[in-house]
Amino acid sequence: MKYRIAAYISGSGSNLKAILDYSIQKKIASEVVLVIANKDASGLEYPASLGIETAVIPRKEMPRKEFVRRQEELLKKYNVDLIVLAGYIRKLPKEVTDKYENRIINIHPALLPKFGGKGMYGMNVHRAVIEANEKYSGPTIHFVDDIYDNGEILLQKKVEISIDDTPETLQKKVLELEHIAYPEAIKLLEERREN
Ligand code: GRF
Repeated sequence: MKYRIAAYISGSGSNLKAILDYSIQKKIASEVVLVIANKDASGLEYPASLGIETAVIPRKEMPRKEFVRRQEELLKKYNVDLIVLAGYIRKLPKEVTDKYENRIINIHPALLPKFGGKGMYGMNVHRAVIEANEKYSGPTIHFVDDIYDNGEILLQKKVEISIDDTPETLQKKVLELEHIAYPEAIKLLEERREN
């Protein structure tokens, strides 16, 4: 069964783009109906060009209550039943994680439970993986709860790390896999819903 997805982003939104393209090509049944960012992220341009509602809800420029209220209002307006975090750097408010329990997923650019937790984002992750002399890395898609990178793992994909990999080359390798893994994870959830 299909989901009505709200995607949350903070950056370039390449994962969101991959999901949108799978959806347009009907390789997944679900639809992105809303995109929320915490700032004027460049990743908002593509969904906006497709006519999808985009909203910037910055945390620091408004009282917490307002920050939560605006999200709740939009999620309700668009009948969202799955939240997909795609490079969103803020923590979701508890009001939202409680309401969407087991219906929020996130993508992390390493093989959790290793290399997760607070401060483990962006290049920090790939640097830590290289420094630890790991043989493999790859994206993890997991459910989101109140604790960073803590929820149940839905899907992982592995890529081999070669001796000449740098954090930068590793990031590129992992990102390529992310763009395949995230739509695949959504498809898995669609199939779970049918059973
Ligand atoms: C990805 O590396 C993802 O794993 C992490 O944030 C990054 C988002 O990249 N959570 P993009 O904005 O989708 O290009």
